[in-house]
Amino acid sequence: MRESASWLAPGRVNLIGEHTDYNDGFVLPLAIEFGCRATVSPGPDGLLRFVSAQESEPVEVPVEGLAPDGVQGWAAYPAGVLWALGVDLPGLTVTVDSDVPLGAGLSSSAALTCSVAAAANDLLELGLSPRELVAVARKAENGFVGAPTGGMDQLASMLGEAGSVLFCDMRSLDVRPVRFALDDAGLALLVVDSNAPHRHADGEYAARRKACEQAASVLGVSALRDVTLDGLDEALAKLAPEPDGDVLVKRARHIVTENARVTDVVARLDAGQIREIGPLLTASHASMREDFEITVPEVDVLVEALLAAGAHGARMTGGGFGGCVIALVDNDAVAAAVRAAADAAAAHGFAAPRTFVTAPAAGAHAVDPSGAEPPRQPPVDTNASGAPDAG
Ligand code: GLA
Repeated sequence: MRESASWLAPGRVNLIGEHTDYNDGFVLPLAIEFGCRATVSPGPDGLLRFVSAQESEPVEVPVEGLAPDGVQGWAAYPAGVLWALGVDLPGLTVTVDSDVPLGAGLSSSAALTCSVAAAANDLLELGLSPRELVAVARKAENGFVGAPTGGMDQLASMLGEAGSVLFCDMRSLDVRPVRFALDDAGLALLVVDSNAPHRHADGEYAARRKACEQAASVLGVSALRDVTLDGLDEALAKLAPEPDGDVLVKRARHIVTENARVTDVVARLDAGQIREIGPLLTASHASMREDFEITVPEVDVLVEALLAAGAHGARMTGGGFGGCVIALVDNDAVAAAVRAAADAAAAHGFAAPRTFVTAPAAGAHAVDPSGAEPPRQPPVDTNASGAPDAG
């Protein structure tokens, strides 16, 4: 066996298509410049050792103790990946170092699981394809950590491409890179982290998932993906009389309209009409606020402020209940938008947002194990007073 293998896997921003993944629908994420670097090397017999640059204590797990519920905290993610590989494991040391902001809805967990999956696959010479690694990373989260997430994040982290968003059909798992030529259009994609504390995000996520499954079952379809915009009124009329019918109506309406917005955005991007996706992003936010009820005042205020400052479109990205807002902004309006977001948060007594400019980055790739620092180009952070620099 080689001495070690190192892979870098990025976090992600979702341009549009929220909570559609576990409804077999469409999503349009991009990998970002923040990522996790994982190095896997042979370790003492029978022992799995997990070391993180962001944690003070390493975690050690005997190989035979590797089972769901057997590992708690951050190490459950890399341990889950090794478990999900489903092979006899030698002793291994897994070292990770991530600069993906935690709790911001930027998929720090997918960056962690995908980088470990790819590095372990490389070191152990398992020959798994990127798509098989996506499945391993997802199995780790769903089956070991116990997070019922939908699969978009791992696809984006493994398969993301610089310069493109990734159009994913979450039923067939077909993906198609769609050119997202921000520079050519004089545009910037701004990410504004609300820094809002996540409130009951896990329980609410599971509740949304359950409501969608319930709605699909009432409608006699395998997933809400099967309801189209044309059939929406009829479907909602069937859901309304159910117990909790008003909730089911709202949840289903979000998923069906959101799937349509994703395909509309793709059509506009394919036609080179990048600015024209703005209203669809904003409509997605309204749908998440009114129908899916996953936004919080902190992100709603940011969206309004960014739009008032001239953004072409703005929406919360990720699972919700806090996290980040994205905005499509003309390059020369970025500084004003950043200031407007900071001022609005301050005026409401909310935490100061943290803003950066992003663009689609490469998905998981091998990096030099000997390099002390991951060869990344983090987006330049900005603050209320300084103009951001797309770097
Ligand atoms: C989280 C999950 C994803 C997806 C989004 C919402 O990021 O991990 O699978 O469901 O929420 O779109």
